[in-house]
Amino acid sequence: MCGIVGYAGRRPAAPLLLAGLQKLEYRGYDSAGIALLTPEGVRVVKTAGHDGVMAMEILAGQIDRLPAEATTGIGHTRWATHGRPTDNNAHPHLDTAGEFAVVHNGIIENYLPLRARLREAGCVFQSETDSETVVHLLAHYYRGDLAEALRRTLADISGSFALVGMCRHHPGQLVAARRNAPLIVGAGAEGDFFVASDIPAVLTETREVYVLEDGEMAVVSDGAVSFSDFAGTARAKTVMRVTWDAAAAEKGGYEHFMLKEIDEQPRALQDTLYGRVNRSGLVDLGIRAEFFAGVERVALVGCGTAYHAGLIGRELLEAWAQLPAETAIASEFRYRRPLLDEHTLVVLISQSGETADTLAALHEARKNGARVLVVTNVVGSTAAREADEVLFTWAGPEIAVASTKAYTTQLEVMVLLALYLATARGRLAAEYSAALLAELQALPAKITEILSRKEQLRRMAVPISRAGSAFFIGRGLDWAVALEGALKLKEISYIHAEAYAAGELKHGTLALVTADTPVLAVATQRALYDKTLSNVEEVKAREGRVLAVAASDNRELGDAADEVFWLPPVSDALAPLVTIVPLQLIAYYAAVLRGNHVDKPRNLAKTVTTE
Ligand code: G6P
Repeated sequence: MCGIVGYAGRRPAAPLLLAGLQKLEYRGYDSAGIALLTPEGVRVVKTAGHDGVMAMEILAGQIDRLPAEATTGIGHTRWATHGRPTDNNAHPHLDTAGEFAVVHNGIIENYLPLRARLREAGCVFQSETDSETVVHLLAHYYRGDLAEALRRTLADISGSFALVGMCRHHPGQLVAARRNAPLIVGAGAEGDFFVASDIPAVLTETREVYVLEDGEMAVVSDGAVSFSDFAGTARAKTVMRVTWDAAAAEKGGYEHFMLKEIDEQPRALQDTLYGRVNRSGLVDLGIRAEFFAGVERVALVGCGTAYHAGLIGRELLEAWAQLPAETAIASEFRYRRPLLDEHTLVVLISQSGETADTLAALHEARKNGARVLVVTNVVGSTAAREADEVLFTWAGPEIAVASTKAYTTQLEVMVLLALYLATARGRLAAEYSAALLAELQALPAKITEILSRKEQLRRMAVPISRAGSAFFIGRGLDWAVALEGALKLKEISYIHAEAYAAGELKHGTLALVTADTPVLAVATQRALYDKTLSNVEEVKAREGRVLAVAASDNRELGDAADEVFWLPPVSDALAPLVTIVPLQLIAYYAAVLRGNHVDKPRNLAKTVTTE
């Protein structure tokens, strides 16, 4: 979940690396560093965040300590796994003589025995990290050929990695390798090359990108790049042209990416739907029908927000397609020995397509003969490449750690998938499906209307921002949305928030409800209005403060709750796509009111590539 950028070319490397790292900060940001090659050796600046100042800000202030003329370098932003976030543990790491430098994403699982061995051989370690073993190995095996030294290093290490290394004796050269962590090579206009963990890091410089596969190495040298496997056998790769807009990955005038991304939801939903309804008014997923033939059950698997999208997918699949479905947290799924066979469709949901737990679940599913359908936002991601079939959410790059537009577009894909399977299985009347698709097309306008009422949500966030704890309640699909609303609040406001099935509140949790514990009630499911209303009354009777997000015809709630945000009219099944929007905004304003780093909440990372 860290970010890597490397550069080798004719231009000064430091500002290019810094700019690239700034685009990657969302991947991990407790520390950051840059190393440059000079004829005398490697020069490095690296730092953790200090006294509330972010690491990248400190690094930017120290950049002038580096040689301005150096044209080869590597940089890194880190999210700590092995070793605390300190200056020494920040990357790049150097070998004992200061001639080699390495940046690493992932985990070197056998680093303890390796470190012991290298220490015996005289290496002096500067950090507590697993990553540092790699640079010492590189120096240890170096006999004049850097690529060969990397190959020997790779044979020694186990675990996951995206690595980039360089050496004083090879100006203009970068060596890189990947296994289970993303890595790309960007080809610049003037024979200069970038190596990065993510495409946004290079987009302002180039759109020509090579995506490395697991088990591949790249060597950039003298204005050219070559690829091979870890044994050194050459691999031919084709360049991919990135068509999305660099500006789309930047803030575009907003104070926070999160707010920008919340506002982008109407467009993201339109883009995701685009081309997926055919002339006969039926869902067209662009996947051959045989892929779904004989499916008897579905397992929807993901982490965090993606898992919450799966909860809604399950309900819709069962209701419309009448397919038994379960939702599982990816990190639990793989160890539970799930019952999987060739009649099981495993739907893996992941914004990034790189989450380690989700990828492990993918491998588990594959091993057991299940069919794997991936729902992801990132073209070229590992999950997308390993899937049998992929459904992309076209949300555009999502930068804020707290997921918003990726979630709503995941929900839209869930709706499309359930409608498709329901129709294919003959379980849903054509008129009903057509009506839902027409409504789906109208949702962006409804969300735009919600977004025009931000002021009320900012007001509703005030009491929440002052609370130490909050509950979210709902029933059915509202419960699934409540879970996501509570996660948003936790992630960015740091307020303890828990979502409860409204009917479960009285079985213990009511003991915690006081005048200082706001309860957010979600009430859009018509058949459950009365029941949820009773639960709201229970809270009111304990002097709790109830804020609600409710369907416009649920007027009785208006009398019971302290304040209600009314939703535009929407059918029960599609309600989650609009209901989450006010909850995202309440979380956003609560975090802003508390003065938090909204886009980069403490302890969290956008893409978690460790299990
Ligand atoms: C991290 C992020 C969450 C995200 C989860 C799954 O924990 O902080 O916002 O929901 O990973 O990410 P994915 O990319 O697989 O959807």
